[in-house]
Amino acid sequence: MPGKNRDSLEPVRWKSGVLEAIDQTRLPGRLVYVRMRTVDQVCSAIRSMKVRGAPLIGVAGGYGLVLAALKIRDGDLSQARSQLRKSADSLISTRPTGVNLRWAVERVFKASFQVDSVASLGDELRREADAILREELEAAHNIGRFGAGLIEDGDTVLTHCNAGALATAGYGTALAVVRSAVEDGKNVSVIATETRPLLQGSRLTAFELSRDRIPVRVICDNAAAQLMAQGVVDKVIVGADRILGTGHVTNKIGTLPIALAAKFHSVPFYVAAPVSTLDLVTDPSRVVIEERDQREVLLIGGRRFSPQNVGALNPAFDITPPELVTGIVTDRGVVSQPLAENIRAMFG
Ligand code: MRU
Repeated sequence: MPGKNRDSLEPVRWKSGVLEAIDQTRLPGRLVYVRMRTVDQVCSAIRSMKVRGAPLIGVAGGYGLVLAALKIRDGDLSQARSQLRKSADSLISTRPTGVNLRWAVERVFKASFQVDSVASLGDELRREADAILREELEAAHNIGRFGAGLIEDGDTVLTHCNAGALATAGYGTALAVVRSAVEDGKNVSVIATETRPLLQGSRLTAFELSRDRIPVRVICDNAAAQLMAQGVVDKVIVGADRILGTGHVTNKIGTLPIALAAKFHSVPFYVAAPVSTLDLVTDPSRVVIEERDQREVLLIGGRRFSPQNVGALNPAFDITPPELVTGIVTDRGVVSQPLAENIRAMFG
């Protein structure tokens, strides 16, 4: 139930006309909030990954449009909507791969057609953004409930990147499954890949699980296959940034090699995501893979570890084909194989 853990992390909140979100670039050292008063500040927080994780970016993007609406004081409604359209497009372009951002921003933009005056735009858009926040938090808890049944007492679960409270409105997706199983009384321990280059696994997943006293150990990304070969991993559960109607799963770079290793070693590979992560229209060949700054790869803690004349490639996401996925845990239930057929039956 949303709000169940009284001391749980609140990754994003709206406070007196200001959007506040945990600055994830400062974790685990400092738990501080970035305060955003303009849509440009929201765009920049998302681009710099102070605010990250597909569902959380969606929630923040929705509120970003509210901030834009609150700044519009005069002109007629159609002028206001075209200004809002520009803000919506700027927000959507900050991170092109995940689908939740576009979904949430378009939903909030659509609310601008429900008003008959510029003066009421801010309130109306705010209502929609609040609804998205509420629904996404509830979805996270439902993912947990549906997924907990897949976890057995004593399981060691490997996860990649951060698909936890910090990546969502709260509670998480992959980590919601773990949390819910633990709340059911099961002993579960987690192996978190460090997730190069930005270390969401060692910085964020390890932070939030240790805060909840759920046993967690960090591994180098390239240790996953060996640990599966040793029989140490019972299940893999990851999040997703975009799940296609075909069952292809776009997630943090490094997910695909984990899925390949899991298939080879017969370790079940689950994906956990809210329905807002589904994209039933895009073809796998047309998914845009965000390419981020080379410096994220070449520099570690501001220090360069490669020769000065060497460049880098930095794709932020990869695509795991459906045949490597055991099942998808959504807030409406678990989709099992054959994925495309069952996605169509459940959501088409
Ligand atoms: O680049 P990031 O840190 O925003 O990427 C996050 C991921 O890939 C997560 O696994 C994904 O958003 C799932 S969120 C619950």
